[in-house]
Amino acid sequence: MNARAALKKNDVMTNFSPPPSARKFDLAKTYRPIESELKATTEALREALRRSDPAFARYLDYSFELGGKRLRPALLLLSGRAWGAIERRHRLCAAALEMIHTGSLIHDDILDGAKFRRQLETFNAKWDSKRAVLVGDILITLALDMICECDDPVVFREISAKCRATVEGELFQTDSSGNFELTVEDYRRIVLGKTASLIECSTFLGGYLSGARDAELELFATFGRSIGVAFQIVDDVLDLVGDEEKTGKTLGSDLANKKATLPVIRYLESASESDARRFRDRVERGVRPEERAEIAALLRESGAVDAAFTDANRLIDEALATLTTLERRAEELGRPSSSDAFESLAAVARFVVGRDR
Ligand code: FPP
Ligand code: MG
Repeated sequence: MNARAALKKNDVMTNFSPPPSARKFDLAKTYRPIESELKATTEALREALRRSDPAFARYLDYSFELGGKRLRPALLLLSGRAWGAIERRHRLCAAALEMIHTGSLIHDDILDGAKFRRQLETFNAKWDSKRAVLVGDILITLALDMICECDDPVVFREISAKCRATVEGELFQTDSSGNFELTVEDYRRIVLGKTASLIECSTFLGGYLSGARDAELELFATFGRSIGVAFQIVDDVLDLVGDEEKTGKTLGSDLANKKATLPVIRYLESASESDARRFRDRVERGVRPEERAEIAALLRESGAVDAAFTDANRLIDEALATLTTLERRAEELGRPSSSDAFESLAAVARFVVGRDR
C-alpha cells in the first residue's frame, strides 16, 4: 500500500475545518515576488545534494522529495527582497536552512516514531533509524559547505546559534515528556527553540544580507520569532485534531509520546480537578490511534483548541504590526524595497494560522 493510501486508511474523523481564509491561500502566488530566486535556490539545493558520494544518491534524492512548503527559504528571500536586492548569499543561506530543516525533521521522525511525512514514508520507516540519523547528519554537513561559501562570520554565528537553540528546544521537550504540569511559559521555551529559532534565522538573515542593521534587523528577527511560535501552535493543534490525509504525516504522536502541547495545557488549565486527573491518567496509560477522534472532540468542546488558536492569532497580529513598522522604516530610509514582498510576508503570516496541512 502506498503512503497516501495508508494515511487515508489510518485516519480518524476529527471534523476539523480551518478558517475560510486558509482555503483561499495560494502558495505559488504568495511566493511570486521571489519566484525565480526560489527556483534558483531549489537548484542550488539539488546541486549541493550531488556533492555527496553517489553511492548515497538514493537517500539524498529522497530527502529532496521530502521538501514541503519551502517556508524557510521563502521567508529568507522575501525578507531580503523586502529590504533590497537578492544576491547569491541569500540563495546559499536559504538552501542551507532548508537542508538543516529537512535534516532536523528526519531526526525528529525517529524521536517521534513517525511513519509518514509529506505524503511519503519517513526515513526511519522506509529504511531504519540508523540510516535516518546518518542521512540527517549528511544534510547538515552539506549545509555547512554552503554557509562557508558565504564567508561571513555573522551568518555563521547566527546559523550555529539557531541550530543549537533548535536542538536545545527539542531536548527540553524530551526532558519534559510525561510532565503534564508544564506551564505555558515552559511550552513557549520549547517552541521558541525547536521551531521558531530557524524561522527567526530565516527572516533575520534575509534582512541582514540586504543591509538591515540594528533596530530594523531586530524587527526582522521579531517577525520570524512570532510566526515561528504561531506555526508550532497550529502544528500542535493539527496533531490532535487534524486530518492525516491532508497533512500527509502521522498525527496523534504528541499524546502517544506524552508531550503536553498548548491545547492540552489550555485544557488542563480550565478542566475540573477530576477531569484533569482522568485526562492525565488516560495519557499515562497510553493513547491508542483509534482514541484520537474522541480526544479531539473533548479538546474542541472544552474550548482548548479555540484558546490555542487565540494565542496563535495574537502572535500573528503582533507579527503583522512588526511588519507594518518595518515597511514604514524602509520608506523612511529610502530602501530599494518591494511592497509586494511585504505583502507576501503578511500573507505567509496569515497562512500560518489558517492552514490545515
Ligand atoms: C518538529 O516538531 C521538529 C522540529 C521543529 C525540530 C526538530 C529538531 C531536532 C530533532 C534536533 C536536531 C536539529 C538540528 C538543527 C540538527 P514536531 O514533532 O512537533 O512536528 P511534526 O508534527 O512536523 O513532526
Ligand atoms: Mg514530529
